[in-house]
Amino acid sequence: MKKTIFFSSFLALMGMANGQNTSHVPQLGKDKVEDVIAAMTQQEKVYLLMGLGENNWMNPPTGPTHVIIAGEAGLTWAIPRLGITPTVMTDGPAGLRIDPHPEGLNITRFCTAFPTATALASTWNTEMVENVGKAMGNEVLEYGSDVLLSPAINIHRNPLSGRNFEYYSEDPLIAGKMGAAMVRGVQSNGVGTSLKHFVANNIETNRKTINAVISQRALREIYLRGFETVVKEAQPWTVMTSYNRLNGFYTSENYDLVTKILRDEWKFQGMVMSDWWAGADAVAQMNSGNDMIQPGCNQREELLRALKYKLIDEKVIDRNLARILTYILRTKRFSGYAFTNKPDLDAHALVSRTAASEGMVLLKNDKNALPFNNVKRVALFGKTSYRFICGGTGSGEVNYKSAFTINESFENYGYKVAKPLETIYKSFIDSVTSKAKKEDKKFVVDFHPELKLNKEQIKSQLQNSDVAIITIGRNGGEGWERQIVDNFYLSATEKQLIKDISEIYHAANKKVIVVLNIGGVVATADWRNYPDAILLAWQTGQEGANAIVEILKGKVNPSGKLPMSFPMEYSDVPSAKTFPGEPADNPVNAVYSEGIYVGYRYYESFKVPTAYEFGYGLSYTQFEYSNIQLSSKSFQNELTVKMTVKNIGKKEGKEAVQLYLHAPNVEIEKPVEELKGFAKTRLLKPGESQEITFTLDKRALASFWTNISSWVAEKGDYEVRIGASAKDIRLTSTFNLPETVVVEKVNNVLYPNRPVTDLSISDKK
Ligand code: BGC
Repeated sequence: MKKTIFFSSFLALMGMANGQNTSHVPQLGKDKVEDVIAAMTQQEKVYLLMGLGENNWMNPPTGPTHVIIAGEAGLTWAIPRLGITPTVMTDGPAGLRIDPHPEGLNITRFCTAFPTATALASTWNTEMVENVGKAMGNEVLEYGSDVLLSPAINIHRNPLSGRNFEYYSEDPLIAGKMGAAMVRGVQSNGVGTSLKHFVANNIETNRKTINAVISQRALREIYLRGFETVVKEAQPWTVMTSYNRLNGFYTSENYDLVTKILRDEWKFQGMVMSDWWAGADAVAQMNSGNDMIQPGCNQREELLRALKYKLIDEKVIDRNLARILTYILRTKRFSGYAFTNKPDLDAHALVSRTAASEGMVLLKNDKNALPFNNVKRVALFGKTSYRFICGGTGSGEVNYKSAFTINESFENYGYKVAKPLETIYKSFIDSVTSKAKKEDKKFVVDFHPELKLNKEQIKSQLQNSDVAIITIGRNGGEGWERQIVDNFYLSATEKQLIKDISEIYHAANKKVIVVLNIGGVVATADWRNYPDAILLAWQTGQEGANAIVEILKGKVNPSGKLPMSFPMEYSDVPSAKTFPGEPADNPVNAVYSEGIYVGYRYYESFKVPTAYEFGYGLSYTQFEYSNIQLSSKSFQNELTVKMTVKNIGKKEGKEAVQLYLHAPNVEIEKPVEELKGFAKTRLLKPGESQEITFTLDKRALASFWTNISSWVAEKGDYEVRIGASAKDIRLTSTFNLPETVVVEKVNNVLYPNRPVTDLSISDKK
């Protein structure tokens, strides 16, 4: 249902009705924040601590109204008598999510669908991500929103997790650096972001109650680390606490998390809000430092009662209000910015396309099957060839104006698309769509099983095509996990299709390319031998189909690399046995017993083979790594590592270079290597070189020692490994840390509420 939001000055009346002295009423922006708070009634205070309630319609206002926006996720109350303006909060990670056709207004407000966060992380290019953020933030500003509820930086702990597409990586350095770039980009427009979901929101099953049981070391090194980076490097205006419990407590009710860690240790300066309907105890949320509850429903009564019976200190409320008012003061809405409703969508489409091309990962390219050589006619197999999946569902969705499908994009670039095949798929799609309920029509094809084709149907396409392209699609979203069967693993029909098409086309000396238009990791080991090439196109926004064609034809040289590992089998995933939680049919607790061994930290340390390792991705050219130089052989406060990348192939291209550190393993065990730096080269012409510099600080050497709650860099020899992926290490060098250093002592907080024994390398022996 479309909804249009109206605002009124009813709270102004409320204030007067409460007998306020109107002779001098402090005004936000003119008077001190404390004075404005002091002038508020208890009722006004409680209203401002929350959103407008479910569907934004709690207490429908009366009196003069004006339209704010439509399709936003949340609003904050205006109190006109105190000069307090409303604010608007909108999703989400792949672009602004608002209603394109606000009821009662004669305007359209389409937004740009950018690549999902996973695809953005695959660029390994923080500058690119910052640019996407700038464009996204401009739409936030020009459509009249104040805060984008993004970036979402939770860790890809398990490939089935339903929201992975909204998140960046299995590695906290990538998640943190990408998140920081996004915050800088969006906020450069004078609008805010909300760093979410703080923290350990890695499971969608029972997401509002599940208790994540995580050791303090795994929390510090893996789950908190990315948030720490974003807060310290980019200061998002707001942070959103998560739905889940963590070690026994809801994150939004946890003072140790929200105040001791976020504010005291990391020096977060902004406002904290809850996720929508998260938590259970409004008083605990207020006390923890979770300043605002969204969207805020029955908690109003609860807080008013708590104030009345002195179950909450009013000073706590005032402290939280001060942060909320400081946030409101920062908004452009407060300073009267007249938004245009006219962001430059054409320019943003270009930004989206560039990021889409750079986020795609070439997984396989046997005998240089790509780029196309003498291809004019294409046979497009798979329903997704005719229904491109731009992004996921839920709050990560974007209402864009239009997106080409892969068949349309091929035609845009002058290719002949095999028409009889197109007809088969289009009538299949029409029939699936026509049978679906109205509300399901939009996504029904994405979730419908693939169409079976017999060998004769495949053979008859040979005469119309020089190459076969098979697109495999996956969609997903919040509130549920992906399934192992027919989702993580390709379905029997999909695998049969790949096998039959490959056999038939290869017999005719024609190539077969698989395109993966997916949001998260799928199994590849059981079918990857059939096709000649595999392009992991991700869900890359409204321009994704064009970007695919540009890569296949060689206009763009792929340079994306995996920000997560692709396991051989689901059972190889370190959290496979414990995901989503226990009891399995209705999980209450999720014990993260793999500890710090998430993703490549596990596969590489435990020598478990992967289908494609972390950091992997092919190019149409080759790069040579040389000349590694360390600023010193002995680590003092900082150390720089320089090296040179040279394009020694025949095509221009970019390379993502990765720095891993192998640390000494004396007092506590550590993963065999950890990513401590990464960089993307500029576009290098054949023969061109670029020098890359990485800087390692003390924290880069440190692990978290639980017994003393400290980050400690252990003395000994460290090996710097410069690689094209986690496995493809091209250069190494060593330095020594002469003495063990306690780099930082932190609060001893967030210990698990039940015993958890982390996985250890010694378990293997
Ligand atoms: C999601 C958040 C989102 C919020 C507002 C929640 O269900 O978890 O990511 O920002 O809704 O739409």
